[in-house]
Amino acid sequence: MLPKKLHKKLENRNANNAFRQLSADSSLVDFSSNDYLGFSKSEVIFDKAHQYVVDNNLKQNGATGSRLLSGNTDLYIKVEADISTINNSEAALVFNSGYDANVGLLSSVPQRGDVIFYDEFAHASIRDGINISNAKNYKFKHNDLDHLEEKCQVERSKNQSETELYVVTESVFSMDGDSPDILRLTQICTTYNAHLIIDEAHALGVFGNGLVQMHHLEDVVFARIITFGKGLGCHGATILGAQNLKDYLINFSRPFIYTTALPPHSLATIATAYQELVTQSDSKESQIKKLEKNISFFLSEYKRLHLHDRFIKSSSAIHCCVISGNDNVKSVAQKLKNKGFNVKPILSPTVPKNKERLRFCLHSYNSKEEISEVLSLLATFVK
Ligand SMILES: Cc1ncc(COP(=O)(O)O)c(C=O)c1O
Repeated sequence: MLPKKLHKKLENRNANNAFRQLSADSSLVDFSSNDYLGFSKSEVIFDKAHQYVVDNNLKQNGATGSRLLSGNTDLYIKVEADISTINNSEAALVFNSGYDANVGLLSSVPQRGDVIFYDEFAHASIRDGINISNAKNYKFKHNDLDHLEEKCQVERSKNQSETELYVVTESVFSMDGDSPDILRLTQICTTYNAHLIIDEAHALGVFGNGLVQMHHLEDVVFARIITFGKGLGCHGATILGAQNLKDYLINFSRPFIYTTALPPHSLATIATAYQELVTQSDSKESQIKKLEKNISFFLSEYKRLHLHDRFIKSSSAIHCCVISGNDNVKSVAQKLKNKGFNVKPILSPTVPKNKERLRFCLHSYNSKEEISEVLSLLATFVK
């Protein structure tokens, strides 16, 4: 029997029309997955990764243990070395997921007496890591760098030289698709001697190797989190930073230490997908270029249909149309689903009440016709 208190919580979810259920909608047109470049279904990546495992005599199903015990391999070392070269970072440490990476970094690095400032819309994995940490933590308003600066100023005026400040944000927000002004962010962190941590989960592959690298700011960012489950279409994540940060995490980050390592075929897939990204960056007919074109077309179509006031401003692959109320947003999503389109409603409490939204994730493989049709339908449903 489910304990009464839990039963009540489920009932409340139902009453708020916010009950979550698993579904598998594979026949619908995909405006929902994070597979921005279609890499998850790339046969080239699949075949190359398989061949790599065979050629290197790594025909092994599991890692056999955590990395500090039996799970580390030469392939891990090679993948981390390649990733740090590609991302222009002194070191890279692979985690089993982006969730693990954020929890592992934020729970172990900021210490008691330190202060963390984080964007109010930061991903759940960032907030979970912060909640485990012994440091004090405060939110700043979403992408509001004046607000962040004010908070840094107040904290530094306390003259507590031992206090380390950490600023945590995302380069592309998962629920809004928008970005902070990264250059100003680094300037604020330099002025107030704060360590900047940036989650690049939704930037990799959409904005090259991430927005930090695109702006040549690698040296002024303390740590970058890159996840492989989105633009790279596979699984896992890495923290990029200095070698001594890597050493620290290997020693103190519990989600790194106390878990079975990734199997060789996962690592081979990560390495192959990264190589594919590098190859495609130089090609004119790449999935990257197709995605860029689809993003521009999506923007021009929603302007043509006079929907632009409803959308949160974004130049990434994530575009959100605000439809206030769980009932309303679910109803529009269902109507689109009935027409064959998979667009996810994002409900409160995942986003603030009255800011519920339809989240369109764009891909290299969406056709112009699909984009025009889904937006035309949306225009009729929200009028
Ligand atoms: C911003 C952000 N960070 C981290 C994660 C977690 O990454 P993963 O799916 O690899 O656990 C996500 C995924 O939803 C995300 O959107």
